Amino acid sequence: MADRSVRIQMLVLLLEALLLFFCAAEAIPQTKDTPSAPTFYRDVLPLLQEHCQVCHRSGGIAPMAFQNYQDTQRFAPAIRVATQNRTMPSWFAETGVGKFSNDPSLTDSQIAMLAAWVNSNAPAGNPADAPPPRQWSDRWTILAPELVVEIPQPVAIPADGEIDYTYEIVPTHFTEARWVQSSEILPGMPQNVHHAVVYVRPPDSPWLRHAPVGKPFTAGMLTTPEDQRDAMWTDSDILLVYAPGSTPDSWPASMAKLIPAGSDLVFQMHYTTNGKPGQDVSRIGLIFAKHPPQQRVLTLQLTNDHFVIPPGVPDYRVEARGTLPNDALLLSFFPHMHLRGKSFEYNIIRPDHAIEPLLRVHYHFHWQMSYRLATPRPLKAGTMLQAVARFDNSPGNPHNPDPDVEVRWGEQTSDEMMVGFFDVAVDPTFDKQRFFQRGNPASSSH
Ligand code: HEC
Repeated sequence: MADRSVRIQMLVLLLEALLLFFCAAEAIPQTKDTPSAPTFYRDVLPLLQEHCQVCHRSGGIAPMAFQNYQDTQRFAPAIRVATQNRTMPSWFAETGVGKFSNDPSLTDSQIAMLAAWVNSNAPAGNPADAPPPRQWSDRWTILAPELVVEIPQPVAIPADGEIDYTYEIVPTHFTEARWVQSSEILPGMPQNVHHAVVYVRPPDSPWLRHAPVGKPFTAGMLTTPEDQRDAMWTDSDILLVYAPGSTPDSWPASMAKLIPAGSDLVFQMHYTTNGKPGQDVSRIGLIFAKHPPQQRVLTLQLTNDHFVIPPGVPDYRVEARGTLPNDALLLSFFPHMHLRGKSFEYNIIRPDHAIEPLLRVHYHFHWQMSYRLATPRPLKAGTMLQAVARFDNSPGNPHNPDPDVEVRWGEQTSDEMMVGFFDVAVDPTFDKQRFFQRGNPASSSH
C-alpha cells in the first residue's frame, strides 16, 4: 500500500449475486448433424431456459418474456441479431481473462443454431419435444425466500431533483445468529432505484445509533456533524448490493453470510427521479443455510475516492491497491462506477511486480454485474490486489452528462465512484474486523 494519495478501503460487503442460472451443460445438437431445421420446442426453448429466462420471463427485468412460442417467435429476427452481435445475453467481461461460472455467453454453435432457426421461419416443431417449463417464482430469481424484510415506511420519491442517499433501519429481532445462503433485493420502484446496499449492523456497532429506526432519513437529517459524516462510511458487513442489471447471489452449501443475533438491516437507497413521483417499498429476501457453513463470505472493496477526472479526457486511469491481511479464497467481483465508467480491471501484483489479470470488464452503467470465478482462487496473506478503473469524460461518451467539468467522487450519478467490490470466503470465526488483523491464526484452516 505504497501510494498514500490512494486511499484503500477494504470493507466487508456481500456482493450481490448471480448465479444459479447458467451452469447447466448444453444439449444443443450441431446444426450439421441435424437433418431438419432447429425447432422452437426441441432446440430453442431449452437454450432460452438456461440463458435468457432469468431476465426474459414474466416479471423479469427484460421488457419481453421468452417462455412460450408465440411471445418468442415475434422477436425471432431480433434474437438472431442480438445473439450474433453478442449484445445478448449481456456480459461484459473480456474473453480470455478468467473463467466465470455465471457467464451466460452462447457458444458459436448455439448462435448458429438460433440463426438457422430464424432463417427457416422460426418453426414451432412438436410441443412433445419441449422440456418441462422452468419454474420461476413471481418476481424472485432465488427460490422462494424464507424471510422477506421490507422497509417499514415507504419512501416518498419526488418527481424531480436530486435525492441524497436515503437510509432505513430495520431490526431483524433474530435471537440467534443466522447464516444466509441466498439473498435478493427487489426494488419497489425499479425505475427509481439507482442502487441499494443492505448492511448488517450488529448490536454492538455504534454506526447510526442516533438515527431513527423504521423510518426513512438522510444524513442531512441527523443532528451532529459526526453522525452526518458517519452515515457514509461504515465498517459494517454488507449483506447485498443491488444495482441496475445485477442479479442475486447464492453461495455454495459450504459458505454463507452471517447475520449476528440482534442485528439490524440498514437499507441505504440511492433514488433517482424521472418526472413521476412515487412511493418506494424495497425489500430483501433471504434463504438460510441448512447447516453452519465451513466458511464465511465477506465482501471487501478496493476503493479510491481521491481522484479528479479532468474535463474532456477520454481515458482517465484511477487505481487502488490493497494487501490481504490473511489467507482468503477469492470468489467473485463486482465493479461499481457511474456514467463515465469505461473499463474496470482486477489484478494480482506479484512480488516481482508482474501483473496477473483476474478480470477485465468493458463497463456499462446500465449493466452492473457480478463476475463469479468458475474456480475460486486461494490467496495467501500478503497478496497484493489491484483495481484499475478507466473513465471517459469526453463528449464521445454518450452517457456523459457534462464533458466540460472536473469530476470527483460523490453520491450522485453525475459524480463518480471507483469501487471494486470482491467476495472472499474465510474462516467462519472471522468477522471483518478480525480478518483485517494481520496474521490472525484462525486463517490457516483451509
Ligand atoms: C441479465 C438479463 C438478461 C439476459 C440473461 C438476457 N437478456 Fe435480452 N434483454 C435484457 C434486457 C433488460 C433487455 C432490454 C433492452 C435493454 O435494456 O438493453 C433485453 C433485450 C433483448 C432483445 C431486444 C433487442 C435488443 O438487443 O435490445 C433481444 C432480442 C434479447 N434481449 C434477446 C435475448 C436472448 C436471446 C437471450 C438469451 C440467449 C437474452 N436476451 C438474455 C436482459 C437480458
